[in-house]
Amino acid sequence: MDHTNQYLLNFKGYYFQRFLAETDILENLADFEIRDDDVFIITYPKSGTIWAQQILSLIYFEGHRTRTEMVEIYHRVLFLEYNPEKVDYVKRPSPRLFSSHLPYYLAPKGLKNKKPKVIYIYRNPKDVLISYFHFSNWLLTLEPSHDIEHFMEKFLDGKVFGSLWFDHIRGWYEHRHDFNILFMMYEEMKKDLRSSVLKISSFLEKELSEEDLDAVVNQATFENMKLDPQADLDHLLNSANCTRTKDGHFLRKGTIGDWKNHLTVAQNERFDRIFQKKMRDFPLKFIWDID
Ligand code: A3P
Repeated sequence: MDHTNQYLLNFKGYYFQRFLAETDILENLADFEIRDDDVFIITYPKSGTIWAQQILSLIYFEGHRTRTEMVEIYHRVLFLEYNPEKVDYVKRPSPRLFSSHLPYYLAPKGLKNKKPKVIYIYRNPKDVLISYFHFSNWLLTLEPSHDIEHFMEKFLDGKVFGSLWFDHIRGWYEHRHDFNILFMMYEEMKKDLRSSVLKISSFLEKELSEEDLDAVVNQATFENMKLDPQADLDHLLNSANCTRTKDGHFLRKGTIGDWKNHLTVAQNERFDRIFQKKMRDFPLKFIWDID
């Protein structure tokens, strides 16, 4: 059944946010002109996109590290498939930083020449589920759910913006050889931010001095991002009347394992069963609760 509704737009088998999606952008995605020095963050929603945006823009732009250039995060990193402000991406100077939730098969063809760099961030889908549940009850443009059970149904059926988590990661991972791609795990970044920033900067071939590395790590912690008006989107979303209540947060908890505070034993077991079934033959090893 096609589940397109007032919140979701099905384009080529993938659900976009209806409020933000524009058909001409979607239809031209495949041919969107890519530059060799473009950098892409690819995520399933709620996997740490904004965190990666902060890390990348701090690595690339000295003015952000030194806080001499005050530019909001969504202007530093452009969202490929959603462009409500109609920014002219062609006029952007290089290197351009992009984010996207696209599945691998809708990515611009130019990404496959393997020169542009792609960073795929993935997170324990149970934590994604909980983060997403809160987010979609907060944001006006997403379909609310009365309880986790209700949201979990939609999530496990892929009837949410971003479609099915399992398909998203599998698609990108199984086609990894078509791209110049680094896979990073949210949990790994949380456990050791410094090593993760080093891994990312080395993939980007951007060598950082010790001082710069310290600045990136320091400004990319959850606590400091919350204090940074350029990185925290709460004010923007609330003041643009994009939210249902004023007490939600984009940077909500930023922890590993919050699902344990929300899922019942039965819900957890059901999730595990589906996870095992879907990911049994998947080569990437998931070690979510690393201590
Ligand atoms: P929670 O809702 O679990 O707190 P996205 O940007 O893809 O929408 O992901 C948002 C999630 O990433 C939120 O998860 C948010 O708190 C978390 N996040 C953002 N910045 C973070 C940081 N610096 N450290 C840890 N988690 C972060």
